[in-house]
Amino acid sequence: MTSESFEILDHVEQAVFVRDFDGRIRAWNKASQTLYGYSRDAAMGQLADALLDSEYPISACDIEASCVATGRWQGEVKRKSARGNQMLVHVWLSVQRDLAGTPIQIVETGREAKTTSFEQELRLSEARYRSLFQAMAVSFWELDFSEANKRLRALRNSGVSDFRKYFLENPRVVSEMMTAARVVDVNDHTVLLFGRGNKEELLGNLKPFWPDESTSAFTEAMLSGIAQKPHYWTECKLRRIDGGTFDALFTIAYPPHLSGWTSMVAVIDITERNRAQEMLQRVQSDFAHAARVSMLGELTASITHEVNQPLAAIAANADAGLRWLETAQPEIDRARESIRWIMEDAHRAANVTARIRSMAAHRPPERNLVSLDEIIREALLFIRYELQARSVTVVHNASAEPAIVLADRTQLQQVIVNLAINAAQALAQRDCSRRKITIQTIVADDKITCIVEDSGPGIHPDHFAHLFDSFFTTKQEGMGMGLPICRSIVEAHGGFIRAGNVNLSGGARFSFILPVPNGEPRTPQASP
Ligand SMILES: Nc1ncnc2c1ncn2[C@@H]1O[C@H](COP(=O)(O)OP(=O)(O)OP(=O)(O)O)[C@@H](O)[C@H]1O
Ligand SMILES: [Mg+2]
Repeated sequence: MTSESFEILDHVEQAVFVRDFDGRIRAWNKASQTLYGYSRDAAMGQLADALLDSEYPISACDIEASCVATGRWQGEVKRKSARGNQMLVHVWLSVQRDLAGTPIQIVETGREAKTTSFEQELRLSEARYRSLFQAMAVSFWELDFSEANKRLRALRNSGVSDFRKYFLENPRVVSEMMTAARVVDVNDHTVLLFGRGNKEELLGNLKPFWPDESTSAFTEAMLSGIAQKPHYWTECKLRRIDGGTFDALFTIAYPPHLSGWTSMVAVIDITERNRAQEMLQRVQSDFAHAARVSMLGELTASITHEVNQPLAAIAANADAGLRWLETAQPEIDRARESIRWIMEDAHRAANVTARIRSMAAHRPPERNLVSLDEIIREALLFIRYELQARSVTVVHNASAEPAIVLADRTQLQQVIVNLAINAAQALAQRDCSRRKITIQTIVADDKITCIVEDSGPGIHPDHFAHLFDSFFTTKQEGMGMGLPICRSIVEAHGGFIRAGNVNLSGGARFSFILPVPNGEPRTPQASP
């Protein structure tokens, strides 16, 4: 190779070098220096494959043989640069021959293959994604929001910044956005779930799939996109092409690498799940009711006592009132006072029966803002006589801050009664001089804790794992349903319940935690 040809090679962008059939480098251009990191001086005369640590896809001998036979070869070769970096180089080999046609050297042109394999990876990943998109038993949608996005940009340019407020005041715009969003592609499962076997009828307009009742879900999905959140999900109703609606779990993702607001949507039909959940809730509520009625049966002594007390007082006051009136000079003021007491006791008796009626009533669970401490006080009234008869003292430490929860009053009363009765039964087992139950409520951060502690024998370590299992009992007369019912009620209120012991020698401690209602005013509803 002439020195002129060397100079020309330096103007070539690709790495070009020449090696003889011993493998020694005979020419080395500037781009080779840049690519491999060796200067011309360092490379010249070196064995190329040793210097660059070459790893060919087939043996070097085979490549050389194929080169001589056909004049050229190309492929990807793994190499190491002077700095020790691994790289993949796409090389083109070409054989140079003398006038007699004898091969004298090999000219190699190389370019780093990173971009090529990256594109290949991308193609592979696209193919993988496409086959997943098609094969999954979930309804997938590819949506194009670019037109809707244009409108949003125009709104922003015209000064709209609070889109939530704007959409609320201009519901027509939300509807227009729905029409502007295009369905680009759907998978087979979507055709099955939404369509009538024809994919084409699902493409295009998004609006037919959104019943009016789900407009707010669509608005929230858009607001998430505007806020550049990665995804949004909700449960809502969606409409099939035949007009029927169903319960759906709707998820939308805005992949950051997809421009122009292309979004992926996944829809799962949760009609069956919701039906099962409703059924479960009904069974749970039926069961809790049955347990309440049976508990009332066991508390007859307490209840009779609760009603008898005001009735006895009424009789005594009526008697006294009559006597004040039947004297020669009737004492009207005293008689009036007796009648007032009669009225108060009549109210007390009416309250007791109202409480019992609501405990015994079978109605769907409600959610009201109620004071947990008030619920505890009412629940303790139910079992007051029961506790007195067993010489059990109850201390109720109400939290300083109002412990307001969003709950079904009767169900929470049932939890307190179950825990307190368990505690009283445990105290009866132990011959202890101090029979005490402490009930405490604590309001902290975003939760409300209620702790029920007793001074009984505590819970045996082997029993912890089974306490909340249905029918787990250590009592001869027990059914083992008190704690499982407590748990299902607490969990249905978004909370959880735990069991423990006060300390090694102390009694049991049950605590349940309920969430503080979100953004609700902190005023409890009065008890019935
Ligand atoms: N305060 C407590 N101290 C010691 N052990 C307790 C206490 N509370 C519950 N346990 C244990 O947990 C078991 C399960 O309680 P749970 O209230 O579920 O059923 P039960 O009281 O046995 O029967 P039921 O409440 O259906 O009449 C009890 O049998 C008892 O062994
Ligand atoms: Mg019990």
